[in-house]
Amino acid sequence: MSGELAEGVNGLEKIILREPRGSSAEVYLYGGHVTSWKNEHGEELLFLSSKSFFKPPKPIRGGIPLCFPQFSNLGPLDSHGFARNKFWSIDIDPPALPTNSSSKAYVDLILKPSEEDMKIWPHSYEFRLRVALGPGGDLMLTSRIRNTNSDGKSFTFTFAYHTYFSVSDISEVRVEGLETLDYLDNLQKRERFTEQGDAITFEGPVDKIYLSTPTKIAILDHEKKRTFVVRKDGLPDAVVWNPWDKKAKAMADFGDDEYKYMLCVEAAAIEKPITLKPGEEWRGRQELSAVPSSYCSGQLDPQRVLQGS
Ligand code: BG6
Repeated sequence: MSGELAEGVNGLEKIILREPRGSSAEVYLYGGHVTSWKNEHGEELLFLSSKSFFKPPKPIRGGIPLCFPQFSNLGPLDSHGFARNKFWSIDIDPPALPTNSSSKAYVDLILKPSEEDMKIWPHSYEFRLRVALGPGGDLMLTSRIRNTNSDGKSFTFTFAYHTYFSVSDISEVRVEGLETLDYLDNLQKRERFTEQGDAITFEGPVDKIYLSTPTKIAILDHEKKRTFVVRKDGLPDAVVWNPWDKKAKAMADFGDDEYKYMLCVEAAAIEKPITLKPGEEWRGRQELSAVPSSYCSGQLDPQRVLQGS
């Protein structure tokens, strides 16, 4: 690891990663949860609720919760599984990871089940998470999940990086890359629909699971003139979520107006759950970058972002 161990909210331990040009990230051992990602100007790029509890076993509201081994309520476990409510450890000697080799600011965490955990989900696994900052300030998360069952049993899971992006005003935001795709609408009994040809904009609550999505998705913040690019690997689906005003008021750990300043775009594997035999490992990666939006004659040009490198 090349980060600094520090005390976070309510004495919870966190690791601070700093990149020489000024960008930084913070990762809590509780949840293996990234709570902050700042660019070289010190601007926060992730949304974190001012009402977040930071009180185990409640999950942290904002940043990048890890949903494992169950996305949402698609199974018998609590919403989004348990990885976000567990204390992770620093993995001092992780197996080599060929990617991210140019990154000098990174930390490796590991989660393994306790005997108590195995009563809830009767499987033995090693979940390794690497959080790395690239030289240009990109934030890279790599998850490796290995089945270490000794009873010969496979296990199956769903997964998401539940990223909360910080936006200036949700009504000024659009998402490019999900047009014309099929999605399951969580607000309409998970019925399947097809998205129209236009970029996605926001005028009310959204909770959709887009299926078989491209490896790049762009989130354009018109007011900030900033574009987030999500690049993902091993994660075919993408969830787009904003609770809007009514649900925001009903959430104890979320400010009434905070829905205006966030958007979740979650790189995920949901529609086709992952099955691992003993000894097998799955890998899922997301890379986030924040770039100034190209802006010409009143129109942002997402194609340049999506087609660019
Ligand atoms: C999203 C789900 O990923 O997470 C939503 O699609 C859910 O249905 C939201 O409401 C927040 O979940 P939680 O458990 O963190 O309140």
